[in-house]
Amino acid sequence: MSADDSNSLESDNNKPRHIAIIMDGNGRWAQKRFMPRPMGHQAGVKAVRKVVEYCAKQEIEVLSLFAFSSENWRRPQEEVSMLMSLFITTLQREIDKLHRNDIRLRFIGDRTAFPDKLQAKIAEGEAKTKDNKGLTLVVAANYGGRWDMCQAFRKVAEKIAAGELESQEITEELIERYLSTADLPEPDLFIRTGGEQRVSNFLLWQLAYTELYFTPTLWPDFDQDSIEDAIKSFKSRQRRFGHTGEQVLNKAVTF
Ligand code: FPP
Repeated sequence: MSADDSNSLESDNNKPRHIAIIMDGNGRWAQKRFMPRPMGHQAGVKAVRKVVEYCAKQEIEVLSLFAFSSENWRRPQEEVSMLMSLFITTLQREIDKLHRNDIRLRFIGDRTAFPDKLQAKIAEGEAKTKDNKGLTLVVAANYGGRWDMCQAFRKVAEKIAAGELESQEITEELIERYLSTADLPEPDLFIRTGGEQRVSNFLLWQLAYTELYFTPTLWPDFDQDSIEDAIKSFKSRQRRFGHTGEQVLNKAVTF
């Protein structure tokens, strides 16, 4: 897709409403350049900025980024500390800019495990931008899809124990109301950079009907052309949600 074509995305009702990304390959990007891994994460933040700007400009409704998984605590202590500092400094630098661009920032995941300073920055970013009407930027941090389902099921169980809910009332819609993405549309397009082809405990429930796109591009190299390629691939696919191809082509169903 050329830069000119991309302008038409704004008025295009076939574009993804919600894009979810696993930003993989920072470490390898740095190692390839004989740099320490942390420099790969710093370069990764620059790619985040570009993709956020692109999505905001193209009026994508939601962009979800997997910044730190529940399993990332297993990394060497120095890398974990570096990532915590990077999150704090990035938030310090970017909150005002996000706000000026009408972007609503939201974190999902168990934030209680983070340093107090980071928790405070997250709360500040969310509070400042909560009424913004542009792109919703969801940062998944200490997040896991299984964790998300567990916390939702726990809340449902508590309602049942309190006599506020009957087990027969449990439906998919009800469970969705307790997931951390409750009021957001499901991801239409999932992108994973860095060459691995797996979902790695990202939005497990929410990805049920999402189109999956994998690219060998390492995250720091992921730029406007890369996201446009992913969106182009998304648009070339026929989404059926269980219907037949004929039903979809004959417009016998609406989603
Ligand atoms: C995976 O690459 C990347 C991460 C675990 C960290 C991603 C975080 C950022 C890009 C910072 C984003 C910041 C904000 C505030 C949204 P990897 O280290 O697993 O790469 P490798 O597979 O090459 O080792």
